[in-house]
Amino acid sequence: MILAVAKEILGGERRVAARPEEVSKYKEMGFHVLVEASAGAGVYRRDEEYADAGAEIISDPKELWDRADVVIKVKQPIFNQKAGRHEAEMIRPRATLITFLHPAAPANHQVVEMLRDRDVTSFTMDGIPRISRAQGMDALTSMSTITGYKAVLSAAAVLPRFIPFVASAIGTIMPAKALIIGVGVVGLQAITTAKKLGAIVKAVDIREEARLGADSLGAEIVGFEVPEELAVGPGGYAKSLPSEWLQRERENLVPLVAEADIVILSALVPGEAAPVLVTDEMVAAMRPGSVIVDVSIDQGGNCALTQAGEQVTVHDVLVGGSINIPGSVPVDATWLYAQNMYEYVKNLFKKGLDRPDWSDEIVSRSLVTRDGKIRHVGTLEAMGL
Ligand code: NAI
Repeated sequence: MILAVAKEILGGERRVAARPEEVSKYKEMGFHVLVEASAGAGVYRRDEEYADAGAEIISDPKELWDRADVVIKVKQPIFNQKAGRHEAEMIRPRATLITFLHPAAPANHQVVEMLRDRDVTSFTMDGIPRISRAQGMDALTSMSTITGYKAVLSAAAVLPRFIPFVASAIGTIMPAKALIIGVGVVGLQAITTAKKLGAIVKAVDIREEARLGADSLGAEIVGFEVPEELAVGPGGYAKSLPSEWLQRERENLVPLVAEADIVILSALVPGEAAPVLVTDEMVAAMRPGSVIVDVSIDQGGNCALTQAGEQVTVHDVLVGGSINIPGSVPVDATWLYAQNMYEYVKNLFKKGLDRPDWSDEIVSRSLVTRDGKIRHVGTLEAMGL
């Protein structure tokens, strides 16, 4: 069985799905490992290190994808300029792809359909359930920790104001106000970072548990309360709010968004398209120069104006929709992700390299396409199927 580590080709993406350390472990599992030339360059790992760990280095991406039984990656397949073909067309029919696919997001439906039509078995790393047995594989949590930190730093870097309280001979400058909407893993790390920078931090979430976590980090809890049975589903995850409750939430958010200098948007119901919570009118009411970082863009975004992968200025407000924030902290992000991926692959093939364990909950919840069909429930719902 051949496992291939493809080089990431999304602009600015410097992570890689395996380091030489994981290559050795995949070899121990029994895989023959192919690594695309310079795949580790963004994290300062040389081809020679991969070769020393036992990998075969492949320069031609078409050859790598064509020979692989299993391809591991970080980001979803896109068009490969060097090969002149889409990654989803280079993978062999019935081969396996493991990566972040964010399959419920409308922007990724086409790629999911391509994988289905090519009869690829695909798994998405963001589908791994947050159960204790899966902690070592939980790439979403790993990447979200990095994202919460870097989202606030990237907002601070472009905000035309100080964040902390500053006293000067001319007078005092009051601290910036940060509003964090959705305080899961991203949001809690965003609160910690914004507090350290000296911002006044407010937080909104529909789950009581999340609000308690935010409170313990020193954020002021604002917004509105939702009956527990509407907000929380099995396993303690958030549930999609009925449309009338979402409308009520948007109304509650109007004054909170208007007064914020920085808004971090990280509200998500796992496996589903992100709820739109910030409208065009709400952005228009913000102070000029304010900054929104919409990290939920992988699932379509929490702000109606966010453009995937772009920074746009609308109503004098900068709306950031970076789709690979962890890619800007590539060394630590890869250190985490490559180990999460190894744990995932080890669990998937625990019965044998040619026998994925279909009965395993982690496997079934992260499965996206198999045997020419889309299997991921959130994706089928988002596609209206
Ligand atoms: P999480 O599931 O831990 O947290 C999401 C939070 O949103 C939960 O606490 C949930 O209760 C809350 N929520 C759900 N619906 C809500 C609503 N209507 N109003 C307020 N809160 C609501 O997710 P995590 O790991 O924090 O990720 C958040 C987002 O960040 C996801 O969309 C994820 O894909 C994205 N992300 C983006 C990255 C990027 O590079 N752009 C990298 C990593 C994560």
